[in-house]
Amino acid sequence: MTHEIAVIPGDGIGQEVTPAAVEVLEALELDLAFVEAEAGDAVKEETGEALPQETYDLAAEADATLFGAVGETAADVILPLREAVDSFVNVRPAKAYPGVDALRPETDLVFLRENTEGVYAGHEDRLTDDVSTLTRVVTKLASRELAEFACEYVDGDDHDGFTIAHKANVMRETDGLFLETVESVADERGVETDDVLMDAFATRVCLDPTQFDVVVCPNLAGDVLSDLAAGLVGGLGLLPSANVGHERGLFEPVHGSAPDIAGEGIANPAATIVSAAMLLEYLGYDEEADAVHAAVETTLEEGPRTPDLGGDASTEDVTEAIVDRL
Ligand code: NAI
Ligand code: MG
Repeated sequence: MTHEIAVIPGDGIGQEVTPAAVEVLEALELDLAFVEAEAGDAVKEETGEALPQETYDLAAEADATLFGAVGETAADVILPLREAVDSFVNVRPAKAYPGVDALRPETDLVFLRENTEGVYAGHEDRLTDDVSTLTRVVTKLASRELAEFACEYVDGDDHDGFTIAHKANVMRETDGLFLETVESVADERGVETDDVLMDAFATRVCLDPTQFDVVVCPNLAGDVLSDLAAGLVGGLGLLPSANVGHERGLFEPVHGSAPDIAGEGIANPAATIVSAAMLLEYLGYDEEADAVHAAVETTLEEGPRTPDLGGDASTEDVTEAIVDRL
């Protein structure tokens, strides 16, 4: 069966790292059909719209989407696209690689972040010039879906349960419901959990990241804590992510359009190529996904490396080395 892959390179280095990831996918000679579409600052300048309807529709219908990065229009593009694929969890691995300078080289974490609600649900008001409010939404349904995914995630791989990061001691109703729901799903499934207050987590993960493995969090906490973990493993050029939905998914590097280096051909393609490996896993191509992970790891360790990792290779050099190692 042919899988249709929407490819949305976006702006800046998105235009460089996305073709690199497609090159790697094409090298595997699988039954994938790539359809490219536009989104971001450049298309907004041309047409007035950052996310053309046809791009939204393509993502909503394709089996999976590979997304690069956009610039200032990020919120107008990525939030609707996550909704287009009906994504309820954002999977963000943060792993240090051998040969890459990292603050904490022993880091190997996976964040499973709730992707639809919390403080990002969009219920924000400016009541007066001087007063604004935000309503935080937590539902049993979204918490259950996340928890069920987390249970399957730790079951399918080599993990002893997961940690729930929350702040239920203060946000008793919202994080209270989140914690209680996630724990009860894990109980039903016989999956071990522990829990940690998210502020304490921030300190503990910096001091010793090996205390944690899979971390399940509400939306904002997952966003912030996974970026913190990016700092522990050597920067944004390495972090992939998967927005997983029930029937489709959207895969993207955590980084943005990097205007400071865009157009120079030196962006590190690793984050996007590993995101493409997560796409393969999602579609059931497990062996191929493992092969891509291995080729990226060897290349990070033995080179060539892009300038962000201290090397002088181009995006193309690194991509070719990864393809050769496949
Ligand atoms: P950024 O992630 O684009 O760049 C931060 C720093 O990391 C820069 O110095 C950049 O050169 C470096 N960097 C990032 N990715 C790299 C890679 N693959 N290889 C080598 N170096 C890399 O974040 P920044 O500068 O805060 O934002 C730039 C633009 O990107 C903004 O307009 C922002 O709105 C947008 N953005 C878009 C996102 C998305 O599309 N999902 C996510 C984050 C930011
Ligand atoms: Mg973020």
